[in-house]
Order: sequence, then C-alpha cells, then structure tokens
Amino acid sequence: MLSVIYVSVADPDLGPADIASMVAGAQANNARDGLTGALIYNGQNFMQLLEGPVAGVEACLARIRADLRHHGMIEVRRRLVDVREFADFSMLYSPLFRAHDEDLSRLAARRALDPQDERLMSNFLGLGRPGGAG
Ligand SMILES: Cc1cc2nc3c(=O)[nH]c(=O)nc-3n(C[C@H](O)[C@H](O)[C@H](O)COP(=O)(O)O)c2cc1C
Repeated sequence: MLSVIYVSVADPDLGPADIASMVAGAQANNARDGLTGALIYNGQNFMQLLEGPVAGVEACLARIRADLRHHGMIEVRRRLVDVREFADFSMLYSPLFRAHDEDLSRLAARRALDPQDERLMSNFLGLGRPGGAG
C-alpha cells in the first residue's frame, strides 16, 4: 500500500460548512475506494495523510491536486507500507488539533519536513491510535 502525507494552502474563503461537506464527501469516497487517512486544518493550511492501494491513492491525490479549495500541494512524506496508520478512519478529521496550528503553518511555508516537526508529526499520527494524541 501507499501512504502519502501532503500539506497545502487552503482557499481563504472556506468556512466551517465547506470543510464539513468536503470531509463528508471524502469519507464517502474513501469508504467506497478502500482508502483511509486523516486531515487537519488550521484555518490556512491543510495536512492530510492518505493511504491504501497504490492506484487508488494516486487517483485520489490527482483529484485532490486539481481541487480549487486549496493549492500548493507539497508531499512531505511518501512511503510504501504494510500496515495502515488510520485503519479505522475513512478520513479522520480533527477540528480539535489546534495546539499545532503554528507548527503546521511553519511546515507549509517551509515545504519540507524538518526535525522540529517531530512533535507535530507524532501527535498527528497519534490521532489514528486508540486514545489519539493532539
Ligand atoms: C484538503 C482536501 C482533502 C480532500 N480529501 C479527499 C479525500 O480524502 N478523498 C476524496 O475522495 N476526496 C477528497 N477531496 C475532494 C477531492 O478534491 C474531490 O473534490 C472529490 O474527490 C471529488 O469527488 P466527487 O466526484 O464525489 O465529488 C479533498 C479535497 C481537499 C481540498
């Protein structure tokens, strides 16, 4: 399976209702397509992990890349995996993941992972485990 994490710059006009309908659509599609993952949003940037069969993840990423609700998509991690990190979530969306808002902005501006992103990443990935972090 393929697992990809990207960051992007959100359209500034998006409101809570836009995010809610986007997440609902993503969850329905991903359940259909055998994809799982997680999404966080700090009001300016998205970070998303998408995992599943290689062709399915690539097709979904192509749709997401063309989506006008954000731009500047940069992959910060891409790996082949045997085990999913968000096996129980068609697309976990955590509006409570706000402690790292500035860390996410910094990562999106820098456009590459850096050692100082370690806590952000471990708390993000922790959302997929029982009792979730963040
Ligand atoms: C930040 C962001 C994350 C998204 N995540 C997903 C996703 O996980 N799965 C998905 O199918 N679509 C996702 N979308 C929506 C796609 O870009 C696209 O609109 C959708 O897949 C089209 O599906 P539809 O034909 O059912 O409308 C996302 C869009 C954005 C802006």
